Amino acid sequence: MKKSTPGSLYSGATPQQVAADIDSLVDFQPEGISLKQLETLVTDCLLPHLMRYDQPQFQSMFNAFPSPEAKVGARVALDFNQGVTNWQVSPGGAVLEELCCQALCKLFDLGPESDATFMYSGTYANQQALYMALHHFADHQGFDLSKKGISGFKHPERLTILASQDAHFSLKHAVRILGLGEECLVLLPLDDNRRMDVSALRDKIIEHKDSHDIVCIVATAGTTTTGAIDPIEEIADLCAESGTWLHIDGAYGYAYKLVPDWAHIFSGDDRADSIVWDPHKQLGAPIPNSVLFVNQKTDFFRMALHSSYFNRPGEVEPNPGLKSPPSTRPMSALPLVAILRGQGLDKVVEDLQSPLVAIHELANTLNTQADIEVLHQPDTGILCFRMTPEGTPTRDLDALQIRLYQQVLSSGERSISLTEIDGQNALRLVVVSPHTTYEDLWETIQVLRKSVNQ
Ligand SMILES: Cc1ncc(COP(=O)(O)O)c(C=O)c1O
Repeated sequence: MKKSTPGSLYSGATPQQVAADIDSLVDFQPEGISLKQLETLVTDCLLPHLMRYDQPQFQSMFNAFPSPEAKVGARVALDFNQGVTNWQVSPGGAVLEELCCQALCKLFDLGPESDATFMYSGTYANQQALYMALHHFADHQGFDLSKKGISGFKHPERLTILASQDAHFSLKHAVRILGLGEECLVLLPLDDNRRMDVSALRDKIIEHKDSHDIVCIVATAGTTTTGAIDPIEEIADLCAESGTWLHIDGAYGYAYKLVPDWAHIFSGDDRADSIVWDPHKQLGAPIPNSVLFVNQKTDFFRMALHSSYFNRPGEVEPNPGLKSPPSTRPMSALPLVAILRGQGLDKVVEDLQSPLVAIHELANTLNTQADIEVLHQPDTGILCFRMTPEGTPTRDLDALQIRLYQQVLSSGERSISLTEIDGQNALRLVVVSPHTTYEDLWETIQVLRKSVNQ
């Protein structure tokens, strides 16, 4: 059995070794085992292979370790296994979710008619946002999308959604599942800092005027690749001119609106029709924990489905299950409430700011290093770069980034990520945890430098 060594991120085992260890856990038998045996089995078989997000060398993805406060919330939600379907199933859960959603709208300074709902993930929240945008568009064409579907549109082939080239692939999932198809998604060029190029957006709107029906424009607030924040205010102006639904995909980045020095780059967000935010990313809320905001609470009526046994029409009790699927919903509000209430907003903001500062300091330093090419200036907590040691031919640089990435990862001691920027391989550092400091990031650079020579 492969053990993880102290300080390492996980065992470093291969998929075959992990499978061999886990095998006895899934060996279902007629007889059960004691709780103590069960715990020992899980601890021995699985734990060494789980990734330690609490270690500062975890610098690759958006996952975060739950704080003690988050665990208090999660434990109660689990102990009572509350399904927050409606008032009848969980009076406390239903009211908590409704009040939490209202408090979140206030916290993010959204408009007086705004509201929110908890979702399983940013992926599903993006999907629901696009559905609501399409439903709204159908309203203007004089029919009810929920009844007629896409065939209600005279020219379904003209339906178009605009987003940037760096928008998250969950938008593709959304248009597939909505029956629109990937071709309806038009991905716009980026500016020098990998934000949506607004002049290209303006040109596309003009170009499409007589040939396409633009249903929704998606601004990404924190792209997955580089953390760039699209120019929300300018995009909101263009949406307002044409009456187009504005959706902000802030699954990763919207949390940083809470950091005073970063808040201005989100300006215009209160004009968006819908916004996605994932507290299961940097806030460390137990997965799944995602929030979908709407500017007008009445837009959630587009989602409501009633039945004869519960969620009956006309019932006045709070009913979060009418605002988004599914019917059986976890009590996601509680861990998030526990984080915000337990830590206090000052600590939450301090912890959000610390990775942003660390990544910005790193970018400043790397900009002065001859053997490193920085590929963008960071808007948030992500930095992409290439190691470009002197004497390495340009044609070998792509292969070098892959080798370095694999070498770092295979040690099990450090986790960085590999991505592609403008067709070239790039290394990517992501910091979501306040435990990862500038020094930890600098250590990674030294490890990469050593690997270059190996
Ligand atoms: C910008 C963006 N949107 C959407 C998603 C999808 O969110 P989830 O992983 O919660 O489904 C991600 C995930 O990383 C993301 O970065």
